[in-house]
Amino acid sequence: MSTFKTLDDLGADQRVLVRLDLNSPVEDGEVQDNRRFERHAETVSELAEAGHRVVLMAHQGRPGGDDFVSLEQHASILADHVGHDVGFVADTFGDDAIDAIESLSAGDILLLENTRMCDDELPEEDPEVKADTAFVQTLAPYFDAYVNDAYSAAHRSHASLVGFPLELPAYAGRVMQTEYEANSAIATREFDGQVTMVVGGTKATDVIDVMNNLGEKVDRFLLGGIAGELFLRAAGHDVGYDVGGMDLFDDQWEANHETIESLIEERGDQITLAVDLAYEDEADERAEIAVEDIDEKDRAYLDIGTDTVEAYDPVIRDSEAVFVKGALGLFEDERFSEGTVGVLRAISETDCFSVVGGGDTSRAIEMYGMSEDDFGHVSIAGGAYIRALTGASLVGVEVLQNN
Ligand code: 3PG
Ligand code: MG
Repeated sequence: MSTFKTLDDLGADQRVLVRLDLNSPVEDGEVQDNRRFERHAETVSELAEAGHRVVLMAHQGRPGGDDFVSLEQHASILADHVGHDVGFVADTFGDDAIDAIESLSAGDILLLENTRMCDDELPEEDPEVKADTAFVQTLAPYFDAYVNDAYSAAHRSHASLVGFPLELPAYAGRVMQTEYEANSAIATREFDGQVTMVVGGTKATDVIDVMNNLGEKVDRFLLGGIAGELFLRAAGHDVGYDVGGMDLFDDQWEANHETIESLIEERGDQITLAVDLAYEDEADERAEIAVEDIDEKDRAYLDIGTDTVEAYDPVIRDSEAVFVKGALGLFEDERFSEGTVGVLRAISETDCFSVVGGGDTSRAIEMYGMSEDDFGHVSIAGGAYIRALTGASLVGVEVLQNN
């Protein structure tokens, strides 16, 4: 298991450089609060309360994107969650950043500017190369320790994630620690009973990767979402293609149908597909149709149907462990939330080990009045979660383990 050092191993009175993942949705230039702030606030509070000088790094968006913005707003959102001032300096490693770092007192918290505004951050290169950049070489001497709490960015070989651990004693933050343990469970733990994986969402390749890599570990796969419809198509049903200007299925089908067909052939008895689907009728209401009654797809299907939810429910209740990757329908619209919410509710009502992640799926938990406490772990990671599920290692975790 984890061989990295944690905050429990950190000495007293340290100058700590901490990497968080505060990458957030941005709407009309406004950074949206989300569970990443709440989670990282725990690590930050712990460090500040222990009397360390706490300097934070994080990224936002990608250069050229609308969400590639300054972290100034992040500092105030984070401050609300920490319940303590979070200073901000609009600089990554220049004189302004150094001055701000040098003027910190014990227990102070400072957030540096978006790491991706610094040229050394982004190209994915080996940790040794990243450690040699001016960014890392300039900042590292001002610190005693480096903490990586950004599990959800740990699949990226960027300077702030993999360079500093080669220059400073490095530790896993609380979010890193918790995410790592829960998300690696499927690859590392043996469960006594049935292991079920609920796979949905929009990306077929994610679903395929997970199914290809976890075939031996998982007893039952319950499908839904765009991926589920592509599997139904491969099973011979007249769904899983684009109609009326949509652009969700055909390219993914071209790229993946052979793999999907062979998964159905080789793992057919592990895979459960929807027996009915929901759509929006002429009166804008939810309506349903049995998959076997669909002769020709002429509308969008937005959720699994009620019979499918009823079929999935006992499978979940009989499971020892359930992993959720992706939503089963368009849960943001209440009419089409039954699949995703039905599955989550069943999990929350049993005491199985569970991990929920993948895109925005976890948002359904608060949207529909469930409590995070009723789940084993609710991940804040996207790409890193998928990689962990498939047993792939994360470079940012590796460098911590080697530290
Ligand atoms: C995320 O939000 O998924 C992570 O922070 C990684 O961001 P990236 O996909 O832009 O590297
Ligand atoms: Mg991403």
